[in-house]
Amino acid sequence: MENRTDWLSILLQCKDKVKTSIQPHLKARREPPPDLGVGAGGDPIKLVDLAAEKAIVKILQQNDVSFTLISEESGVKKFGAAPAQCYVTVDPIDGTNNLVRGLPFYATSIAVSTAPVLSSVYVGLVADLHHDTTYTALAGEGAYCDGEKIASSTAVSLDDAMIGLDLNTYRVAEIASQLTSLIQHTKHIRHFGANALELCYVAAGLTDAFVDVRGKLRATDVAAGVLILREAGGVVTTPQGEALEVKLDAKEKVNFVASGNAQIHKTILGLVKPKC
Ligand code: IPD
Ligand code: CA
Repeated sequence: MENRTDWLSILLQCKDKVKTSIQPHLKARREPPPDLGVGAGGDPIKLVDLAAEKAIVKILQQNDVSFTLISEESGVKKFGAAPAQCYVTVDPIDGTNNLVRGLPFYATSIAVSTAPVLSSVYVGLVADLHHDTTYTALAGEGAYCDGEKIASSTAVSLDDAMIGLDLNTYRVAEIASQLTSLIQHTKHIRHFGANALELCYVAAGLTDAFVDVRGKLRATDVAAGVLILREAGGVVTTPQGEALEVKLDAKEKVNFVASGNAQIHKTILGLVKPKC
């Protein structure tokens, strides 16, 4: 079984391969897409998602890794002689809708774990593919952006805070009522459209928190970002303030509050009114 540092190097190779593999699709993004059906996560598959997933699998196979793939596109697939020795959870492209429109905010997300649950993730990588910026973490060893150690925000007041909120749902009336108090108390609200990367923005202190209570974000989107944020000093819980645990599967959904530090987290939890 690969050691942790080997894994980091393999994931960086995956990221490089994803970057080159999606280039033809970036150029062809205005062409009418073929109907490829729906991926394991429930969204229509796009060629660029498949190209990114294929690139990741190819690099893992080239490195002779035996693993269970848990992907937003292909679902669960076993590779090699001992696939239960590690689980590789991927969102090949997070922010596909941004990518196809030419909005420069999309990422690839890869997490390695000893079991198919969030708490077992011990290596994570999220790469901003447009800006070529890569966030990584090994459990217990901190979080890094392009090799430089990162730390989440220490800001505790909402008066000057910048908080990401995902309101991207037709059920917005129900969601908005849970978030009204938080919005009323927060200086700046943002949503960029690639939640794995938005967790890394909290990790790097670019934003102070990120909240998603829609009940529709897939576990595959957060597997790597949660480790990166925690390793950077941030806090992630359910909107009720409980430990965040989820099965790693493209069909599993997750709600969370992710913050730069424990104090602002407590303030945010006090303002969010979760559906019990
Ligand atoms: C999407 C992004 C987006 C969020 C959606 C996700 P995808 O990921 O993270 O910000 O609002 O719920 O599905 O589908 O591009 O991998
Ligand atoms: Ca995706």
